[in-house]
Amino acid sequence: MPTVSGQSEPFVPGPSPSDLEQIPAVFRDDVESVLIGADDIHGRLDELAAEVDHDYAGRELLLIGVLKGAVFAMADVARRLTIPASMDFMAVSSYGSATSSSGVVRILKDLDTDIEGRDVLIIEDIVDSGLTLDYLMKNLRSRRPASVEVLSLLTKPARREIELPIRYVGFEIPDVFVVGYGLDFGERYRGLRSIATLKPEVYAG
Ligand code: PRP
Repeated sequence: MPTVSGQSEPFVPGPSPSDLEQIPAVFRDDVESVLIGADDIHGRLDELAAEVDHDYAGRELLLIGVLKGAVFAMADVARRLTIPASMDFMAVSSYGSATSSSGVVRILKDLDTDIEGRDVLIIEDIVDSGLTLDYLMKNLRSRRPASVEVLSLLTKPARREIELPIRYVGFEIPDVFVVGYGLDFGERYRGLRSIATLKPEVYAG
């Protein structure tokens, strides 16, 4: 029952024939279903970017992308904004299994930018347990920015271990493992244009 957060109308994403065709042939047999098609992703990002533009009108924003999964959302949000927005990236490693994180986070790449006094918008592909984002928000807030908010393309509320204020959410998805649009399994599938689930045998190796 995926829904679009903040909207009363339920959103029922579904694959179109072109969503399936867009999956490269080498990966097509691995994909079980397309959960959110590329057009739906881009339409929702149009809406979210318009909200950000409105909320930060007259201000300058620093977008912080969390590598690697957020690279596509970062690029697609940044190119939609009409307010001035600079970009920086962090890379973090969360110790955990292939499909879930543990909350123990290590910074692999820190920001190049001093964020003191800046309006910061963290860009994520997905918030799952929330442990990575909780660590990041605490870490960034200790650097005394003017504000820190979050935009995440996906959220999985059923998996949340810690409640977090996510100001801009693309889609709420059920508790299924998804790949595409930045999300990987074993570093594969990040480049898929849609959000998809994989067949069980793919996880089994
Ligand atoms: C994913 C995602 C978030 C985090 C969410 O990153 O991009 O950063 O997991 O999980 P959580 O809410 O349970 O903490 P991942 O560690 O898979 O790294 P990647 O983006 O490089 O694939």
